[in-house]
Amino acid sequence: MNGQNGAERPDGLVSKLDQKMRFAVRKARETSFIPYTTENGTWKENGIGWWTNGFWPASMWQMYRMTGAALYREEALRAEEMLDEALRNFKNLDHDAGFLWLIHSGVRYCLERNPDSFDRTLFAATTLAARFNPAGSGFIRAWNGGDRAGLAIIDCMMNLPLLYWASHFTGDPRYRNIAMRHADTTMRYFVRPDGSCNHIVIFDPETGEYLDNPGGQGYASGSCWSRGQAWALYGFTLSSLHTGKREYLDTARRTADFFIANLPDDGVPRCDFRQPALPDIRDSAAGAIACSGLMELAGQLDEKEALPYQEAALRLLRALEKEADWTENTPAILQKCTTAYHDAGGRHITMDYADYFFIEAVQKLRGEKLLFWKPFY
Ligand code: GLY
Repeated sequence: MNGQNGAERPDGLVSKLDQKMRFAVRKARETSFIPYTTENGTWKENGIGWWTNGFWPASMWQMYRMTGAALYREEALRAEEMLDEALRNFKNLDHDAGFLWLIHSGVRYCLERNPDSFDRTLFAATTLAARFNPAGSGFIRAWNGGDRAGLAIIDCMMNLPLLYWASHFTGDPRYRNIAMRHADTTMRYFVRPDGSCNHIVIFDPETGEYLDNPGGQGYASGSCWSRGQAWALYGFTLSSLHTGKREYLDTARRTADFFIANLPDDGVPRCDFRQPALPDIRDSAAGAIACSGLMELAGQLDEKEALPYQEAALRLLRALEKEADWTENTPAILQKCTTAYHDAGGRHITMDYADYFFIEAVQKLRGEKLLFWKPFY
């Protein structure tokens, strides 16, 4: 998908993004933390180990590529150094090590071959690989905590590119083998016959036997959390991109088809595709992730097959623009993101990673590739 050749021209969006993100950086520099959400018109954090902290420097790299403005690169480096504290506390890390380092440290290594960024990214990959439990068909453990050894989650699919990166740059296939074992297990136990997904699957950590699939951040067990569905369609697309395995591409398409078929008329995903009509809980983050993921998926298909995914991505982008705040009333762009269906305090807030995927989608419209992939790989 390329705005220069296609129907959609991203030029207006680029200048709006630049204006808004310069303001967002100014506000971030008034703080000593990495932004997550907003409150009373300014940034708010959630601690240095919080899973979203890589998205801020990752947005900075995207903006740097988009504009060439040095302030974005400087801000990316500032956050990268701050994140060393989270690396030092590595026992607190979980399945989200890819979100925390691949998309900025890994990107910086791809773009500039910086050796410190290489070490950070490889260290993060090694912590992720160490979470692999080979019992049964094998899975990467999700969160920490005493009774959670058997939990795996759909979100983890988005972190597998960290492992592919590590195998590519070290020449050691162990990381990729772990990623593919986890992806195979996810295809088998998370993706349902209709293309919808479980958020959480619980395995017996000793035997790997399937035990349960609770509702997680969605409405209920058997429902379909829309952000989880977006993680699935984008995550399988990325595993297909890195491995060329046909089943991953087919699974990406099946999960994408479900996402598209269940979008409401206004194009804004609700928090769960199977939630009751009221309350009307929305999640712009799911829309932004799916938008960028569908563009990536379309890039792996021939022109005819790609068309419905391109059209759906553009429809999501237009719907997201209606949820965007371009003013200086708040440093965040996308409004109405939701942490989890049953978390009333996390309803219709801003989330830094929603803005990251929105920016990434605009970059793809301009013909830019993922920064942790070829030709930078
Ligand atoms: N990965 C956590 C979430 O999507 O909320």
